[in-house]
Amino acid sequence: MEIGYQRIGNHRRSTESFWLPFNLNKPFAKYSLLFFIFLLVLVSCLWTTVLDSTYVSKALQSRGEFPLNCSSGNNTRTCPVNYYPSDYKIINGKPSSSSPKCPHYFHWIHEDLKPWRTTGITEEMVERAKRTANFRLVILNGRAYVETYEKGFQTRDVFTLWGILQLLRRYPGKIPDLDMMFDCVDWPVVRSSDFAGENAIAPPPLFRYCGDSQTLDIVFPDWSFWGWAEINIKPWQDLLKNLDKGNRMQRWEDREPYAYWKGNPEVAEKRMELIKCNVSENQEWNARIYEQDWKKEIKQGFKHSDLGNQCHHRYKIYIEGSAWSVSEKYILACDSVSLLVTPHYYDFFSRSLMPLVHYWPINENDKCASIKFAVDWGNKNMKKAQKMGKTASSFIQEDMRMEYVYDYMFHLLNEYAKLLKYKPGVPQNANELCSEIMACPAEGIEKKLMMESMVNGPIDETQCKMPLPFDQLSLDSLLKRKESSIEEVLSLEKQYWQEQKEKT
Ligand SMILES: *[C@@H]1O[C@H](CO)[C@@H](O)[C@H](O)[C@H]1NC(C)=O
Ligand SMILES: *[C@@H]1O[C@H](CO)[C@@H](O)[C@H](O)[C@H]1NC(C)=O
Ligand SMILES: *[C@@H]1O[C@H](CO)[C@@H](O)[C@H](O)[C@H]1NC(C)=O
Repeated sequence: MEIGYQRIGNHRRSTESFWLPFNLNKPFAKYSLLFFIFLLVLVSCLWTTVLDSTYVSKALQSRGEFPLNCSSGNNTRTCPVNYYPSDYKIINGKPSSSSPKCPHYFHWIHEDLKPWRTTGITEEMVERAKRTANFRLVILNGRAYVETYEKGFQTRDVFTLWGILQLLRRYPGKIPDLDMMFDCVDWPVVRSSDFAGENAIAPPPLFRYCGDSQTLDIVFPDWSFWGWAEINIKPWQDLLKNLDKGNRMQRWEDREPYAYWKGNPEVAEKRMELIKCNVSENQEWNARIYEQDWKKEIKQGFKHSDLGNQCHHRYKIYIEGSAWSVSEKYILACDSVSLLVTPHYYDFFSRSLMPLVHYWPINENDKCASIKFAVDWGNKNMKKAQKMGKTASSFIQEDMRMEYVYDYMFHLLNEYAKLLKYKPGVPQNANELCSEIMACPAEGIEKKLMMESMVNGPIDETQCKMPLPFDQLSLDSLLKRKESSIEEVLSLEKQYWQEQKEKT
């Protein structure tokens, strides 16, 4: 309304003296009456067409877009009904036989759900996962219901739930009824040793962001794919474009021939150790280490933490924090060579990364010497090093596109739901959750991130084709290949240091 009036007002002021088809000598009253009528007609025309929100929303809807419906009732309390399509007919969709194969890391969905393959999942098992869960999520007929047990750290839980709601908007009618427990804390907790042996009971199925070799937690994409409000990281689909641009800013050969790391060392002992590899008057391990001062960054508006502008070194170090680190995908996205200090945790994609293909492994027990050797090797074998960096950045740009992140969630939740042996109901203390309830009242950066990462409408595409489970043989061979590549690097490293010793 306001905009319409103002525009007309300006119009009048700037042009009245020449476009009105009246005799300006006539009495002023007549002139202003005619003008008033004209104004009225114009406003009502505008009002019933362009400015009418239902008109706008109908037009968008015919294009398959469904913006937030914040005008419906009490939007902090209720979700719109019969607004968003509950099913989506594929109009021009390709037949599923032609949909692409999912990336390799989708195999791990089967591995993560293996513990329940024979038993299925009962409500009792799900209830047992409540012990550490932040929330329980139930999906019924495509609508989401959430019971919160404990607020997650920062906005982890908020953006995780937001992501699931966007999945529901992307694939309406395709997410089955399910009941799941989600833990937003870093460390996996379902120890496999507690559920081994003859009389063992089935483990509780618990979703979280990472796992390790001793646990059975089910891994799920972390919140940062939809944005990380506290440190100003934008949603993944936009960030990917920035990261790609960043790669093009400087040729690999022209980058600093050293290994770079910037982060918060205080979260882990091994990071404190890494700091000691920094260059100084007395030592050169080819490492350039910087401390991330988030308080200062926040004050300065994150000028020095632009992820799209972090490929100025030929090598970038990844080292875990207190568990897995969200930063891994940002480091791999840079087409510099990623130096991975032996990781102990995995997230949903990292188990498919291969040493010497996607990254160079760094020995965690001898970090400085290992980094020095890696950098010397790379500077002598520039073509091979560059290829490794490129393979990793292509993996991130292609196999980790947001479409695949959604497809991963889609397949994981579908496979999980297949195992449920009961029909979920809405938990007693749960509330319905939809994008409107989250985003309409949101403010500031949270609102901004939500609007940027919102799925506008159902996607007229089928999901990628899920791979079959690994057979034991191919899983063993994959793990073996991984191990032998790491051993190969270790022995090269040993040889190198032997030679250095002999030289002096
Ligand atoms: C919306 O809900 C809140 C909380 O229950 C209530 O205080 C408010 O009056 C409601 N507003 C409308 C317009 O119903
Ligand atoms: C918003 O949702 C309500 C139902 O909750 C519906 O009546 C209304 O038409 C919707 N608004 C638009 C713009 O479609
Ligand atoms: C590492 O060394 C560089 C160069 O001397 C210095 O600027 C930087 O602050 C050092 N990093 C840390 C964490 O001390």
